[in-house]
Amino acid sequence: MINIVVISGAGVSAESGLKTFRDSGGLWENYSVYEVATPEAWFANPKLVTDFYNERRKQASEALPNKAHKYIAELQRAFNVNVITQNVDDLHERAGSKNVLHLHGELRKSRSTLDESLIYTIEGNNLNLGDKCEKGSQLRPHIVWFGEAVPAMEEAIPLLSRADIVLVIGTSLKVYPAAGLFEMAPENSKRFIIDPSDLEINLPKDVIHIKKVASKGMEDFIQLIKPYEHSY
Ligand code: APR
Repeated sequence: MINIVVISGAGVSAESGLKTFRDSGGLWENYSVYEVATPEAWFANPKLVTDFYNERRKQASEALPNKAHKYIAELQRAFNVNVITQNVDDLHERAGSKNVLHLHGELRKSRSTLDESLIYTIEGNNLNLGDKCEKGSQLRPHIVWFGEAVPAMEEAIPLLSRADIVLVIGTSLKVYPAAGLFEMAPENSKRFIIDPSDLEINLPKDVIHIKKVASKGMEDFIQLIKPYEHSY
């Protein structure tokens, strides 16, 4: 079966009402990355950091998957699909996508500050100071902060190397190492980008940029890949 790898970012959840990071009005306009999304921030002011992610978690839990998430899940009917997302929401899963790899962690999970292999599901929307792992140390959001390693890259890179079709949707491709995944797509793979903005990066000539919002762009994408549907 043809392998499709979807690399998604905040823009795929924009039509669900969740803010992107770098657009005008985006999250990083109202918050400083250094105050809420770094290990230093956590040491300096864990209350501010937990409050920030508690709010993100609440908003994500109230949001619903949009048409773009659903179209991506429907691709599974005809293709072997892996979604590699930078998003920490669970809207791909709630739309029905089976193979979702979260590069930057997951809002719904916490992890031990003592032993990073201890990962828990957060019940309700709040992680609180005083919530502890089974070894007695404080739990932190299970989020990859700026300056931290991205362990899921190890799983992502081989997926890219086997891709026949790569779809980038709703990401500014400004944050590495995630952005580097697109550059790892095999030369003979078909590459598409869905994003309503002009991207501030140089794209190889054969990349098709569908300059639309995620839901509309997915409709075009589905038509464009129709010829590959039965070529296995
Ligand atoms: N449909 C599709 N794309 C959209 C839409 C939409 N409705 N609205 C905005 N976009 C596009 C923007 O044009 C932009 O290119 O989504 C992209 C969002 O880019 P960013 O805000 O930079 O988000 P992202 O690329 O996911 O950020 C990467 O940075 O701070 C972090 O850890 C955070 O995972 C995040 C990472």
